[in-house]
Amino acid sequence: MAQNQDFLVKMKNISKSFGAVKALKNVDFHVKRNEIVGLLGDNGAGKSTLIKILCGVLQPDEGEIFFDGERLDIKSPREARNKGIETVHQDLSLVDTMQIDRNMFLGKEPTKKIGPFRFLDKKRMRQESSRVVGDVGIKVRDPDEFVAILSGGERQAISIGRSVYFDAKLLILDEPLRALSVKEQKNVLQHVKDVRDGGTSVIFISHNVYHAHEVTDRYVILNNGFKQGEILKGDCPPETVSEYVATGEEVDEVLDCSIEL
Ligand SMILES: Nc1ncnc2c1ncn2[C@@H]1O[C@H](COP(=O)(O)OP(=O)(O)O)[C@@H](O)[C@H]1O
Ligand SMILES: [Mg+2]
Repeated sequence: MAQNQDFLVKMKNISKSFGAVKALKNVDFHVKRNEIVGLLGDNGAGKSTLIKILCGVLQPDEGEIFFDGERLDIKSPREARNKGIETVHQDLSLVDTMQIDRNMFLGKEPTKKIGPFRFLDKKRMRQESSRVVGDVGIKVRDPDEFVAILSGGERQAISIGRSVYFDAKLLILDEPLRALSVKEQKNVLQHVKDVRDGGTSVIFISHNVYHAHEVTDRYVILNNGFKQGEILKGDCPPETVSEYVATGEEVDEVLDCSIEL
């Protein structure tokens, strides 16, 4: 079936249970091209589960996924990454104690051929990662530096740098501002806007509307595994969005606050 090309992601009727816990119940979710979607909901609402399905970490019990015009069964994170989906997870954003340049190329290491053998092209990895990480505002003292000693903001920047470098179609950030300083939060928000302006769609997950408000075009709210509704940002004040998240009150249709009622 031909898919509407306005949509980069379409997830239809997604359900997922963990034993007796129904984490997602018949959720429909989409992302348009060049759009930043704020995925909101309280802790336990199902946000991380939904995006883990999209990036191949989990398989849905039910439902279909369309990405960039084709129906996909995303069986592994590697497959998702090869399709252009870069994810920064809430819990394991980068592999600790790995050098910046190894992290930058994780799973996509450049190789060079010498005689019949292929080797990791370490020199290229080092040069490229210094450049990319520098582009997103980190001064790299030495790319051999272990990521474990970098701050949360610096790690986010490396991941965002990856998505730019590999020209991702979709960047997924799960609670990216948690545990960041105010200055680092500002940097990450700026990078998110830059990535979108470069043509990449973004899913920005947060349980805090105020974190997502500055960058989001449209909100999708999850509540207890159900989709509670969608709100177009327009001039919608964060207080209104926050109220919906807090009360769980159903948003009937897409709520567009720029339309005067
Ligand atoms: N691997 C898992 N095993 C069992 N239960 C899980 C697992 N992952 C998530 N859950 C449960 O699914 C529900 C949704 O979790 P999650 O998607 O992490 O929510 P959120 O990211 O919105 O905080 C919660 O009740 C959580 O405890
Ligand atoms: Mg989560």
